[in-house]
Amino acid sequence: MPDPVIVRHALGSYPVYVEPGVLARLDGLARDHLADRRVALIADAAVRELYQAERWGPVTWTGETLTVPPGEKSKSRESWSRLTDDLLDRQFGRDSGLIGLGGGMVGDLTGFVAATYMRGIPYILVPTTLLAMVDASVGGKTGVNTSKGKNLVGAFHPPSAVLADPLVLGTLPDREYRGGLAEAVKHGLIADPGYFDWMETQATAIIRRDPPTVARLVLRSVEIKAEVVGEDEREAGRRAILNAGHTVAHALEQTSDYQLPHGEAVALGLVAECEIAERLGIASTGLRSRVAALLDRLGLAVHLPGPLNRGEVLGRMGIDKKNRSAMIHFALAKQIGQMHHDAGWTAAVTVPHIEAALVALE
Ligand SMILES: NC(=O)c1ccc[n+]([C@@H]2O[C@H](COP(=O)([O-])OP(=O)(O)OC[C@H]3O[C@@H](n4cnc5c(N)ncnc54)[C@H](O)[C@@H]3O)[C@@H](O)[C@H]2O)c1
Ligand SMILES: [Zn+2]
Repeated sequence: MPDPVIVRHALGSYPVYVEPGVLARLDGLARDHLADRRVALIADAAVRELYQAERWGPVTWTGETLTVPPGEKSKSRESWSRLTDDLLDRQFGRDSGLIGLGGGMVGDLTGFVAATYMRGIPYILVPTTLLAMVDASVGGKTGVNTSKGKNLVGAFHPPSAVLADPLVLGTLPDREYRGGLAEAVKHGLIADPGYFDWMETQATAIIRRDPPTVARLVLRSVEIKAEVVGEDEREAGRRAILNAGHTVAHALEQTSDYQLPHGEAVALGLVAECEIAERLGIASTGLRSRVAALLDRLGLAVHLPGPLNRGEVLGRMGIDKKNRSAMIHFALAKQIGQMHHDAGWTAAVTVPHIEAALVALE
């Protein structure tokens, strides 16, 4: 068994087991990490079906299970109240624990139920999407969406352990898998040139979902995210590097009314923000094309299918297109594996540069 990755946070630390077949040890690991608590498993209903059908190996979980319908809509206060009512009806007390089985949607929701139930109970995450393994399960952020926006109600409540079994990714739809890969490319770009090189040489095996290759990718991405979020408070500003590609990505997602999936928006955002870095002279020419080439080999689009309403995208970033001297702060790469840093981890960028980078996406 490989050693788990340890994620440190203000209140302690927790292990992330990245291990093919670890799901089959769910029962035992739940007992280890939730001691003798009464435990309920909260699952995405579609994921639960795959799990019950033993698509990923033997089912060892025999405890109670609650489900929520698949889809981002379930990450809501309505689901939160239904789940907490259900736990109350079943008389779960303060000595209980939870397991969240599914993608980032179920993980964030389960974490938020755990953060608030009886003023906080421990929980374990079993992420089943690539995005949830390499991103959502590491860092302790939990929450739900509201009609005013995503993740607006939540809490910081880290899990007691995370079980990431790369074998479960075999059933993930291509689009979901590729979306997670965009975050892995981000991890290479912001922190590890060797990892980025490795993804370039292994692109075919990554796309084929060769199990040892996928396991290695999940492990390295989890290590990088754990390292960045685990830094002490004085280095807290460095966390901004995890936002690479995301300023543009969030604006594109919103402009598309969330028709553009997050991972696909991140791929475009990384390309646009590398373009900005080149234009500012922070990165040398070639960074953008290298990042775009890797994303393209991994099956991610690096151009938009049609023209963009740039005024709206800028508006979503909080600036008026006509205000040419308005600035936005971006975490920008200097080169593969190294982020720009002077007074802070972000650089101010004016409208013309952002606009030019958006034009380059068309
Ligand atoms: N907490 C954080 O730090 C953090 C970070 C990034 C994203 N997130 C959140 O994560 C959520 C997105 O997560 P996601 O992309 O995992 O979406 P998701 O949980 O909605 O899962 C995507 C789809 O994949 C299906 N699925 C899950 N595992 C599967 C498997 N192994 N095989 C087949 N199908 C499977 C699900 O049923 C669902 O339809 C968003 O709500 C986002 O805000 C949180
Ligand atoms: Zn992201």
